[in-house]
Amino acid sequence: MRLAGVNYPSRLALGPMAGYTDAGFRRLAREMGLELAFTEMISAKAVVYENEKTFTYAVSHESDHPLGLQLFGSEPHIMAEAAKILAERYPYEILDINAGCPARKIMRNREGSALLRRPSLLFDIVSAVKKAVAKPVSVKMRIGTTKNTINAVEAARACEAAGASFITVHGRTADQLYTGRADWDQIVKVKQSVSIPVIGSGDIFTLEDAVEKMDRYKVDGVMVARGVIGNPFLIRDIVNWFAHGKGPKPVSLEERVKTAKKHFDYIAEDKGEYRALLEFRSHAGRYFSGIRGSSVLRAKLSSTESKEELFALMEDLFKG
Ligand SMILES: Cc1cc2nc3c(=O)[nH]c(=O)nc-3n(C[C@H](O)[C@H](O)[C@H](O)COP(=O)(O)O)c2cc1C
Repeated sequence: MRLAGVNYPSRLALGPMAGYTDAGFRRLAREMGLELAFTEMISAKAVVYENEKTFTYAVSHESDHPLGLQLFGSEPHIMAEAAKILAERYPYEILDINAGCPARKIMRNREGSALLRRPSLLFDIVSAVKKAVAKPVSVKMRIGTTKNTINAVEAARACEAAGASFITVHGRTADQLYTGRADWDQIVKVKQSVSIPVIGSGDIFTLEDAVEKMDRYKVDGVMVARGVIGNPFLIRDIVNWFAHGKGPKPVSLEERVKTAKKHFDYIAEDKGEYRALLEFRSHAGRYFSGIRGSSVLRAKLSSTESKEELFALMEDLFKG
């Protein structure tokens, strides 16, 4: 796929996932061959108000590029100002606008998916951000807010008219949250209605899912999200398939343990061991789900107090 003049032979993007796809995870994902990543969503208002913690979401490692920095908000001038502030302080290649977050708190502020209710506001946001930074602007959206108000085509056209470089569409409505199946027929409708590239998102959990979506729905690229939690190896499989024509590589328990430890170390390098221990809990169980002995690890995870304890639990998995 070609986005804003850059080629991505793997046709793959890593989706933004708040609480998961931080700089540490993305560093690991890049080692798996990932070409395009997005940050977790960042509040435009918090950037403009100089909230220190917010800036940590914009941090990236040297290998973590091209990188899309994702902003959420609803006021064009605040979004533009935030994009400018971030461009002055952090390296990034794409400014992505969140029109997909379904969280009630976000939507109540008319942010995230709520932007879909006002395509003209989306137009104004894309226009303002484009004017503020000399970078490609993209939009990540759901297909609508409810099944009776599906309007991704209209929203995508507004983004294209405002100069967006590409669109990512998650094939669910906001009120579905993450339930049901993503409706890829709606994603195709968007693809057929705009001339900028469209990336499809929703329910890619295996290499076969990625191949099937690419073949059947003819999108420019696919985005993986929940499927890589505890399974960054899926990135390697998809990249190898599309970019190098190679089949999937089996993952041994040794590799799983080694990768999980490295992932922990990457988070700890960025955020310190204490926070890494807390945050890694949501990843650890997923690395070993279905593996004999992993229920003990999951049960003890919440009481681990040091890296040594955590790593010892992982080593115990070799005993079966
Ligand atoms: C825990 C979690 C956090 C997410 N955070 C974001 C986010 O910050 N910004 C965004 O655009 N999408 C976010 N998403 C949506 C994903 O990027 C993706 O579009 C969605 O999960 C559908 O893909 P999947 O079925 O492959 O998981 C999040 C999803 C999950 C599960």
